[in-house]
Amino acid sequence: MNSGQEVKILAIESSCDETAAAVVVNGRDVRSNVISSQIDIHTLYGGVVPEIASRKHIERINQVIEQALEEAEITLDDLDAVAVTYGPGLVGALLVGVAEAKAIAYAKKLPLLGVHHIEGHISANYIENKELKPPFLCLVVSGGHTHLVNVSDYGVYEVIGATRDDAAGEAFDKAARAIGLGYPGGPKIEKAARLGNAQAIHFPRAKVGGSDYDFSFSGLKSAVLNYLNGCRMKNIPIIQEDVAASFQKAVVDVLVSHAAHAIEQYQVKKFAIAGGVASNTMLRNSIKEACEQRGVQFYHPSAVLCTDNAAMIGTAAYYDYIAGRRDGWNLNAVPNLKLGSRR
Ligand code: KG4
Ligand code: ZN
Repeated sequence: MNSGQEVKILAIESSCDETAAAVVVNGRDVRSNVISSQIDIHTLYGGVVPEIASRKHIERINQVIEQALEEAEITLDDLDAVAVTYGPGLVGALLVGVAEAKAIAYAKKLPLLGVHHIEGHISANYIENKELKPPFLCLVVSGGHTHLVNVSDYGVYEVIGATRDDAAGEAFDKAARAIGLGYPGGPKIEKAARLGNAQAIHFPRAKVGGSDYDFSFSGLKSAVLNYLNGCRMKNIPIIQEDVAASFQKAVVDVLVSHAAHAIEQYQVKKFAIAGGVASNTMLRNSIKEACEQRGVQFYHPSAVLCTDNAAMIGTAAYYDYIAGRRDGWNLNAVPNLKLGSRR
């Protein structure tokens, strides 16, 4: 057991298609952050195949953890706690990480901390922005989630808006497949869009009845499919770059307008973005501009901390650890875990 003032947490993340482990000290000092991506395998199938994801996690998890400990130059004996993503995500994938974390914590008699994946994404902002503290608003845009979250304190979250259907990253992935750009869609659309005209095609910016902050992206996906079908039927050439640029602009416009409205209504001084889509340059620049115009400080993680990683899980876990929260041996994977449901 570590005897000094430092709190050393081993964090494990396996909710989707990255097998990841990290050692995080005192919440914001990342000593190692190992990510083994399965993207090449899932690309063959055009998306994540849950059973393959679970099998790959089980093959790789021990190696990834060993590497994380080695890079951090510590052993299991130096740890103060073990943290793991326990939801939301693919159940079989989550179970691998949860079982592994429990085994290590049990064998080494260490506290066990289950972390909400989205809480992890939000906490990624703390790693490189040492001065960032709640309260702030955070737009979480990933492959599975689109949430506008009021972070009033560490571990205290109020979801003020969410998608009613597809997540922003899912929309990127589906549009990319329809355009013929392949998987994963976000980076491919971003690259193609750089060479395209964002004004070429007008795609809808959906408003959701009854909520100022909820999102809907399924209509946009249908509009892209309709546009492509229309071109094919009328023998009009499809310019992939223009479709990508126009689609990306439609997504970014909606995200920015909701973010700007929330900033004004909630009167916050800080705004952060998180999740895989937060690595999109156009989204970052547009939100940054909206923040600057309103005198609000803008925060974002670097690209490697936007997509799935275990460092963000270790950071989130640290604030739970110092608040005295612990999990029992009955910790289980919860595929549809809601944010804020445990506090
Ligand atoms: O956070 P993440 O790694 O996994 C989930 O928790 O879902 O996010 C993955 C998502 C994918 O849908 C991917 O297409 C999207 O993030 N993404 C991007 C970019 N990079 C990744 N979307 C837009 N632009 C990008 N540069
Ligand atoms: Zn994620």
